[in-house]
Formats: sequence, structure tokens, C-alpha cells
Amino acid sequence: MSLTRYTLAIIKPDILEKQSKSIEKILSTIQEKFIIHEKKQLQLTIEQAEQFYSDHRGKFFYERLVCFMSRGPIIPLVLSEKNVNSSSSIKPWRDFIGPTHRDKAREINCLRGQFGTSDTKNAFHGSGSEKEAVDEIKFFFPDFKSDL
Ligand code: TYD
Repeated sequence: MSLTRYTLAIIKPDILEKQSKSIEKILSTIQEKFIIHEKKQLQLTIEQAEQFYSDHRGKFFYERLVCFMSRGPIIPLVLSEKNVNSSSSIKPWRDFIGPTHRDKAREINCLRGQFGTSDTKNAFHGSGSEKEAVDEIKFFFPDFKSDL
């Protein structure tokens, strides 16, 4: 039984800082395969970025990640895959953005490969599980009413 058919995506600060002219193109590329249900632009405080990535506390990249994610505006999105037979959008969106690490992402045709510039500045986020998606959607869009 699925918890949600939606996923939480983020367009990270590196895109808004350096490639803001690409935002409209990125959004239309996303819309070829996904429905955008919610979208906003905001800047996280350090404390909010720490909370969002609390599962990674203690890892070697944690401080760098929190610093990066709070240094400029981001665009969180609630997405679902357009394919009507799809009961979860977690994997489709993660496949669409590609691997975490830059070198791996560059080996295939994916958004991170195209726009990411390092392992940390990897341009996009995608929830890792349905449970994470529920929590992350609530984090950015507390009023979002899921029908699943
Ligand atoms: P993670 O949840 O492992 O990856 P993903 O975003 O693909 O689900 O890590 C969260 C973020 O932490 C990742 O998007 C970028 C950063 N990160 C690094 O900077 N270096 C690393 O080696 C890893 C694994 C992650």
C-alpha cells in the first residue's frame, strides 16, 4: 500500500545562482514527464537546512551540504509522474535527476549530469522513499492535501 504517489523535488541554489536563465527550460523539461502540483521559491535558514538534512548529521559532507542549501534561494516542487499507471513517483523522479555523484551523473542522460557541478552542488533533490516524501512535502507545503 503506497503512502503517497507524490514526491518532493528541489531545484537547488546552484541553479538559481548560476543558471537562472535555465529555470523555465528546466521546468518545461520536468513537465514533459511530471505534473507540478506545488511550487515556491524560498531561502532556507541554516537551522531549516539542518532540520531537512538531519538524517545526514555526522557525515563528512553534512556541514558543506547545510551551508550550500542555505546560501541562496531554492525551488521546492511537489511532483507526480504523468503516467496514470504509476503509483509512486519516487523512483521515476530519482531516475530523471540521476545519481548523487557528479562523475556518475555525467555518464548518463539526466538532469544532474547536465546541471550539477560537484557531488554537493548536484542541482536537484528527490525524496528517497515514500515516507521521506510525506515528511518532506509537509516540511515545505504543510497545506498540501494529498489524495493518497
Ligand atoms: P544523499 O541522500 O546520499 O543523496 P541524494 O540527494 O541523491 O538522495 O545525500 C544528500 C545530499 O548530500 C546529496 O544530494 C549531495 C550531498 N552529498 C555530498 O555532498 N557528498 C556525498 O558524498 C554524498 C553521498 C552526498
